[in-house]
Amino acid sequence: MLRPWKLNISICRDSDVPIHTQIAEKIIEEIQYGRFAPGTALPGTREFSNRLNINRKTVVQAYDTLVAQGWLTAEHKRGTFVSNRALTINHHARHNKTSSIKLAGKATTTPDTLTQCHYSAPAKNGWLDLGMESADSRLLPFEAFSRAMRHALVTNVRHNKLHYGNPLGTKILREAVMQMVNIEQGLHADLPHICITRGSQMAIYLAAKLLINPDDHIILETLHNPIARETFQGLGAKTLSVKHHHEGIDLESFEMLCINHQVRAIYVSPQHQMPTGVAMSIENRKGLLKLAEKYDVVIIEDDSHGTFCFGPQNTPPLASMDKTGRVIYIGSLSRLLAPGLRLGYIISTPEFVNHIANQVAQIDRHGNIITELATAELMLSGELKRHSSRAHKIYFERRVHLLNQLSQQLSFHCNATPASHGLALWLNTYQNVDIHTLLRTAEKVKLGFFPPHLYCENRHHPNGLRFSFGHLNQEEISDAVFRLKQAFHTLPVQRLLTA
Ligand SMILES: Cc1ncc(COP(=O)(O)O)c(C=O)c1O
Repeated sequence: MLRPWKLNISICRDSDVPIHTQIAEKIIEEIQYGRFAPGTALPGTREFSNRLNINRKTVVQAYDTLVAQGWLTAEHKRGTFVSNRALTINHHARHNKTSSIKLAGKATTTPDTLTQCHYSAPAKNGWLDLGMESADSRLLPFEAFSRAMRHALVTNVRHNKLHYGNPLGTKILREAVMQMVNIEQGLHADLPHICITRGSQMAIYLAAKLLINPDDHIILETLHNPIARETFQGLGAKTLSVKHHHEGIDLESFEMLCINHQVRAIYVSPQHQMPTGVAMSIENRKGLLKLAEKYDVVIIEDDSHGTFCFGPQNTPPLASMDKTGRVIYIGSLSRLLAPGLRLGYIISTPEFVNHIANQVAQIDRHGNIITELATAELMLSGELKRHSSRAHKIYFERRVHLLNQLSQQLSFHCNATPASHGLALWLNTYQNVDIHTLLRTAEKVKLGFFPPHLYCENRHHPNGLRFSFGHLNQEEISDAVFRLKQAFHTLPVQRLLTA
């Protein structure tokens, strides 16, 4: 639709300036300030004059003047538009608008590099983005989902129920999540333990907001989820690094940190260590719980990557073994459905969850009722389970394909860390590969990685790269491996010596 909105322009009837001149000047001013972009359709002269309660000829006169001056163009049978020709737009005035907004000190501590990494790469033409681990939204059961969305919308609109809802989330989705986590993950959650959030990221933020006092210590693994780190630091926490290995976190080093600092919490993702994909062994989990109890440390367990398990058995989450109510369990439907739906959940004690709901109420009151109801319908009808089994099979095949491709094409340059969960693999590059140079050569073949130095605090480069494969089909995976091989091959010779 060319003119979806009513144009709002005011005129002064007491002025000495003729009304057609006022209209013309106002339109020029709004074009200059960017309110009317080139190509914007202006209202027809009849409609405009009716709205301003003036003679139609006055508007015609104003438009004619602007067409003659090149500000507007008149198109036969279509109407009058802001000219596409280069006009004198007052960019200075437009950009200066925000200059009096001073950020609070703490806001400026959050760099925006991550935010940019996140949505720029996939949009670029011909690029393969391996940085962001994501579900393949092409697999979404969109017909069943659209039916459920329609059903939710129709019933809510007909019964006049689309009002403000519960900040904890819709009851039916909380019930569906409760069933899922209790049965599949071995949790013992009840309805008051569950709050729905916009993705697990919101849950991480809210949990941290409620836990952290300025200068509190939070422990992260040496390589970790950079957005969680930025969230904690943005809320005033001091972050500490604990070493980790193929079994999980280094418990001795964890204990030393607890002895030497007043540690408030540790953030971990035991099913799929972010970014290496290593799963914590059951002994490591038990050891962590024991020490957390001894030093009164809260555990923020991020299970957002634990949805798909490709290993022989699914080790139970820390939350299912927690006897002292110190684990805050965070999950997401981003891998099972799609990140764009923004559905996550946080599970903890009813008191803590109530505080979370109070925070939700302050941010956005509650989530999108229609999306929540539709998702619950898919969950309770078994449709989501069917989708999950189908998607699991496809992701399993993609993972096998990727591993085969890596061993056939890239075994000279890197190997993959075994990971039982998740839609990404960590590639260990051999010692003498300079990751920064590799990223630059990868960019030349339109292959995007998440810059690995962001995974740690000291800006050290880990000798590896995270390869997200979930959103790529087998053909795209082969293409990505081929491009990565090209990137390795165009590295300067001295950087390619094998270890
Ligand atoms: C470890 C980890 N946790 C949480 C998130 C946030 O995911 P979402 O908010 O889509 O659930 C991400 C996103 O990639 C992640 O990698």
